[in-house]
Amino acid sequence: MLTRVIRVDPANIVPESIEQAATLIRSGELVAFPTETVYGLGANALDEQAVARIFSVKGRPTTDPLIIHVKSRAQLDETAIAVPDVAYRLIDQFWPGPLTLVLTRSERIAAAASAGLATVAVRMPAHPVALALLEAARVPVAAPSANRFAHPSPTTARHVLDDLDGRIPLILDGGPTTVGVESTIVDLTRSHPRLLRPGGIPVEAIAEMLSDLEIVSRFATEADGAMPAPGMMLKHYSPRAELRLFDGPDDAVHAAIYNAVSDLLSQGRRVGLLVADEDRPYLSALGVPLVSLGSLRNLEQIARNLFAGLREIDSQDVEIILARSYPPAGIGLAVRDRLMRAAEGRVTHVQS
Ligand code: TXA
Ligand code: MG
Repeated sequence: MLTRVIRVDPANIVPESIEQAATLIRSGELVAFPTETVYGLGANALDEQAVARIFSVKGRPTTDPLIIHVKSRAQLDETAIAVPDVAYRLIDQFWPGPLTLVLTRSERIAAAASAGLATVAVRMPAHPVALALLEAARVPVAAPSANRFAHPSPTTARHVLDDLDGRIPLILDGGPTTVGVESTIVDLTRSHPRLLRPGGIPVEAIAEMLSDLEIVSRFATEADGAMPAPGMMLKHYSPRAELRLFDGPDDAVHAAIYNAVSDLLSQGRRVGLLVADEDRPYLSALGVPLVSLGSLRNLEQIARNLFAGLREIDSQDVEIILARSYPPAGIGLAVRDRLMRAAEGRVTHVQS
């Protein structure tokens, strides 16, 4: 299959491009499109066969449910039933935007999209191209991140092409995404609201509205223990190279990374670094490939660059990537969570 890429300027959307994409969605095909978080791989959420295609194209286990994207409250009502008041309070505050709510599934939504569960994850994206596509498609759109299973999420059309070229008919290229990490997921189907995944909306902002929000500390540490949500413990965000994460005060992290690189180089290993601007002066003398995600003082920038940085250092013929961790405040919690998962337990905690 030939994969076409159509450039769509978010500030000046050409209706014909969107109409082509919407026609594919309505006819049961898949389309990759930009959201404010990462690129999504979309299918008609009402069509079981179209949804099944998402799992096979991504190589994703069918036990890992998808997020349904809607353009309006009316479409939310086609997707979920018995929506509690607390959901509407969160929606007023955060939609459109990177907040996904887990609610009770409407029978209309393909069962495969929810991996057979009675619940459904739903969000309204804050990206003009995504909203235009939803408007034109006139159906809710099931869309996971548009990467091959276990790869880092795509934040550019190029990343989607690298993973899915020849497997889908169309990619809408709306330029690099602005948030860079996926949506925050909150489960509202239990007695207490529960954070299932930290993401683009800082958990602090949600906790301010939901005093009884349950937050599992696991997000700030190695991802082990019980599985809080379907799909959460699957292999995730894995670069080709082995990623090792260093967590602790800056000076101790610099010393530990410096020593680890020196050791690995003396063993003849090919090493790369994924760090922040402030780390450069301490590590550049090592002379190994280095990708910076931005300044430690700007965690939004770090988040925006995270997945592209991971893909970039991974493409530089290295066997081992040494990365620094980030403070768990604001969007930093999501960055930390993604790196912890990418490290698959290879985390070194250092002290000053
Ligand atoms: O920002 C985002 O959320 C992006 C863009 C494309 O919208 N999408 C995304 O989808 O990150 P994906 O498939 O990579 O992650 C979806 C995750 C699942 O792995 C699962 O953990 C959770 O959402 N999820 C989906 N449905 C659920 C449900 N019914 N109950 C609990 N968790 C659910
Ligand atoms: Mg994903």
